[in-house]
Amino acid sequence: MDLAPYYDEAYTKFLRQPMTQEMSQKIEKESRGLLQLVDEIKEKFFANVSWESLKVVELGGGMGGISMQLARRGAKVTLVDFAPHALEVSTRLSQSQGLEIKTELLDLGRPDARLDGQFDLMIDSHLFHCLPLTPQRISYLHFVREHLSDHGYLVGETMVHRKKLFIPDGYMLDQENILWQMFGEWVPVRKIIDSLDLEEEFKKAGLNISYFFYYANYAFAPSADFWDIPAEVLPASVRFAVKKA
Ligand SMILES: C[S@@+](CC[C@H](N)C(=O)[O-])C[C@H]1O[C@@H](n2cnc3c(N)ncnc32)[C@H](O)[C@@H]1O
Repeated sequence: MDLAPYYDEAYTKFLRQPMTQEMSQKIEKESRGLLQLVDEIKEKFFANVSWESLKVVELGGGMGGISMQLARRGAKVTLVDFAPHALEVSTRLSQSQGLEIKTELLDLGRPDARLDGQFDLMIDSHLFHCLPLTPQRISYLHFVREHLSDHGYLVGETMVHRKKLFIPDGYMLDQENILWQMFGEWVPVRKIIDSLDLEEEFKKAGLNISYFFYYANYAFAPSADFWDIPAEVLPASVRFAVKKA
């Protein structure tokens, strides 16, 4: 099953809303934790470089929570998503805020995904765990390696396994930590990877880890069906920054 139409449908309701400052503030607020890490990486590794001269891409950027904040600082921002409606919402919302963000429609789990040029900062706010299958993850990490500049960083946040997880009806977690959802048939929807395996996955893909922190207190709901589940039995979170080895 192709999940792009499923994600796409979720964005249509936002097109019926007026694009206001309140809406952009709400979306931007949701990514403030990861933005803090992006700022730390910028301070540490691009201290003498202005935001205006940095090329940034947000992968699986959705409505552009991080993209808008970096565009406001002056960075040249591209937002990639495979849901056309996500690109439409992010374009309309960023334009309503007087911001310019380039958008690209791409499936980042495909081996032929390409963009022009390379980037100083690649941002992944919750995309990587939406690529559950090994070939998708290999293609994605290859894409990252191909598009990172020599001094560039991929900075991201992703869900990871914890000892005890509660999996509601309609979902199952297999031995490879792939979460499947029943849509009439079982469909792989998330990877809830063990954090040690995530480190290995980066290394195997030729990426060196500069920052890797496991946030036991930050619970991730894989979808709205998990909203009522206590935080201590939901996936935890890892924030990371990696660069080309
Ligand atoms: C969990 S949402 C995160 C959205 C946003 N980055 C955020 O943090 O709010 C995942 C996003 O990735 C997009 N996505 C999922 N799989 C993708 C793929 N294979 N290629 C490109 N985008 C994908 C979805 O359309 C969705 O916008």
